[in-house]
Amino acid sequence: MAGENGEAVRNKQVIFRDYVSGFPENTDMEVRESTMKLRLLEGSNGLLVKNLYLSCDPYMRFRMTKPNVPVYVEPFRPGSPITGYGVARVLESGHPNFKKGDLLWGLTGWEEYTLITAPETCFKIEHTDVPLSYYTGLLGMAGMTAYAGFFEVCSPKKGETVFISAASGAVGQLVGQLAKLFGCYVVGSAGSKEKVDLLKNKFGFDDAFNYKEEQDLDAALKRCFPEGIDIYFENVGGKMLDAVLLSMKLHGRVAVCGMISQYNLEQPEGIHNLTNFILKRIRMEGFVVTDYYHLYPKFLEMVLPQIKEGKIVYVEDTAEGLENAPTALIGLFYGCNVGKQVVVVSHI
Ligand SMILES: NC(=O)c1ccc[n+]([C@@H]2O[C@H](COP(=O)([O-])OP(=O)(O)OC[C@H]3O[C@@H](n4cnc5c(N)ncnc54)[C@H](OP(=O)(O)O)[C@@H]3O)[C@@H](O)[C@H]2O)c1
Repeated sequence: MAGENGEAVRNKQVIFRDYVSGFPENTDMEVRESTMKLRLLEGSNGLLVKNLYLSCDPYMRFRMTKPNVPVYVEPFRPGSPITGYGVARVLESGHPNFKKGDLLWGLTGWEEYTLITAPETCFKIEHTDVPLSYYTGLLGMAGMTAYAGFFEVCSPKKGETVFISAASGAVGQLVGQLAKLFGCYVVGSAGSKEKVDLLKNKFGFDDAFNYKEEQDLDAALKRCFPEGIDIYFENVGGKMLDAVLLSMKLHGRVAVCGMISQYNLEQPEGIHNLTNFILKRIRMEGFVVTDYYHLYPKFLEMVLPQIKEGKIVYVEDTAEGLENAPTALIGLFYGCNVGKQVVVVSHI
């Protein structure tokens, strides 16, 4: 292998140029070639990895914004590679938990090779009888978000009605399937006919609608939920949240996973129907997946057999090569991805 004895190899990288306001553009990132020595420094407890698959995630938009105080998410560094979740193979390890040849998922760089300086944040991949790219989504951060958000935050009961926005995406497609398997009535919204078809015919949702084609979101929700909504799994915010509040049932729960419709706005939209919280005794709770990573082994134990038995299915949208990574990331904010957006750096 080139670079095996510590000589320099080509390292293609996606560099973050500068902080962004408004919608991110391709020109906010630049694909560059540098070189890297494939050798760990003496005494390092880091990992030298070869990146295989990278994950495009909406939260990465927060990291493109000039840091404000207080900072809850670490911003990207202008002039340095983008960082995010990915699947990688260990080339050299200075950490007792990993050895050469291990596969892992966790935070890495948008480049061919990365020196991971915090290996304790990475998860070793033990089950390789599923596609490795699944660990960028279904079996990684997005899957854990769906699992923790639904079971820990929504407090579901069998027979309840569940509404999911951005339902065909990485998180939404699994929330819907978990809710169906649990015995709920599940409806999703998405932004195209193709996505609505997926929800109904592949992911087994009871109903779905294209929010871009509905003149009146309140009417669409009343049509799908004549008796009201027990659980809203919130992925988009804005007008959808406002409309959902009108249809929530008594003691309804809103799990605030994300609000992608607001991430690129200079001025966030207001929510008007807040008085519904009072008489309907609605509980709304935001959550961040990293607070639930201790549940990962339990999640894997539940989800792996369901995948192997075909009870949980998964749709990925794959971009080939780091050159296409900026377009893939930006596409999330225009609904270009059909399913989980993955970037392939290398198949081996
Ligand atoms: N709390 C956490 O720890 C956590 C962890 C992971 C993800 N999240 C959040 O979960 C949500 C879903 O993430 P994901 O990874 O599953 O992404 P995703 O759904 O795979 O991709 C994003 C999708 O959002 C929809 N979208 C984009 N702009 C929109 C807009 N203006 N209005 C309505 N929908 C819009 C698009 O689908 P359509 O074509 O259907 O519009 C797009 O495909 C995001 O809000 C994300 O920030 C939170």
